[in-house]
Amino acid sequence: WPALRGLMPSNVRIGTAVNGQALATNARYRAVLTSDFNAVTAENAMKWGQLQPTRDTYVWRASDDLVAFAQENGLAMYGHTLVWHHSVPPWVSESWSAEELRELLKQYITTVVSRYRGKIWAWDVVNEVLDEDGSLRDTIWLRKLGPDYIADAFRWAHAADPDARLFINDYGAEGRTGKADGLLRLIRKLRATGVPIHGVGFQGHLQWDKQPVDVAGNLQRFADLGIPVAITELDVRIQLPMTPEKLARQAMLYEHMLAACLAVSTCESFTLWGFTDASSWIPHNYPGYGAACLFDTDIRPKLAHSALVRAL
Ligand code: XIL
Repeated sequence: WPALRGLMPSNVRIGTAVNGQALATNARYRAVLTSDFNAVTAENAMKWGQLQPTRDTYVWRASDDLVAFAQENGLAMYGHTLVWHHSVPPWVSESWSAEELRELLKQYITTVVSRYRGKIWAWDVVNEVLDEDGSLRDTIWLRKLGPDYIADAFRWAHAADPDARLFINDYGAEGRTGKADGLLRLIRKLRATGVPIHGVGFQGHLQWDKQPVDVAGNLQRFADLGIPVAITELDVRIQLPMTPEKLARQAMLYEHMLAACLAVSTCESFTLWGFTDASSWIPHNYPGYGAACLFDTDIRPKLAHSALVRAL
């Protein structure tokens, strides 16, 4: 099959999340990863819970290995993610004082971003900080530090690696939704106060029978603010059993999302949340759903792959 990375316009990266287990054990996985893609995101290896399992221990192995693999193979590395309510380590307690929590967050961001300074092209600084209605999500950081934690996180990350592009990332904002409106308002506010924010990531965890409304138009609203955009975690889950009709609908959605990214001149990257059904997170997180990726469980290209080729 034609390798996607060879067909992409030179200013748009084609990336995928990488599953550490598959990378370490499956040669075919590594071969397809490096032939079809030119950028990678750690599926889990760079999340706080993984990197700092106890207050006094950092565990860098999995994350360092992926960064080294990316460098050896000429893949751009997307850092994911510094602040996410799902990956706050269990030893972090809300009973600590605001000052203590603020210092902890600052230390963590500074430590991780400094370690990889110069090796990460972009960081998801904050992930999923909005609610469906576009207001700020109720998290430990909002409750204890107030809304300024977002601006602070960007400033700390910027100080630690001034050349990394800093992204805000969320799901459910691909089309014109209340969350997308809230995201637009938040970014406008951050930019107006000089916060170093350089991009907005649209995750794109889609379902085969639901097409987000006017993706290209929505992405363009963000581009019009002068802020680059990216698709950061695309997958299209299918309600099992899988049928040829569902696979065809899935292929259309993949194509639709790539076309939307290509239609916006500041779309910098198009990233899938894993490329093979052999190691996708979907069956574990959405019971009854599966087959969400571009390649099947034997890592052979599906209809969705030729649909992406068609969009290019
Ligand atoms: C998911 C991983 O794929 C799973 O393996 C893990 O158990 C939970 O996190 N949005 C994100 C990603 O930003 O980090 C999530 O990744 C999927 C949803």
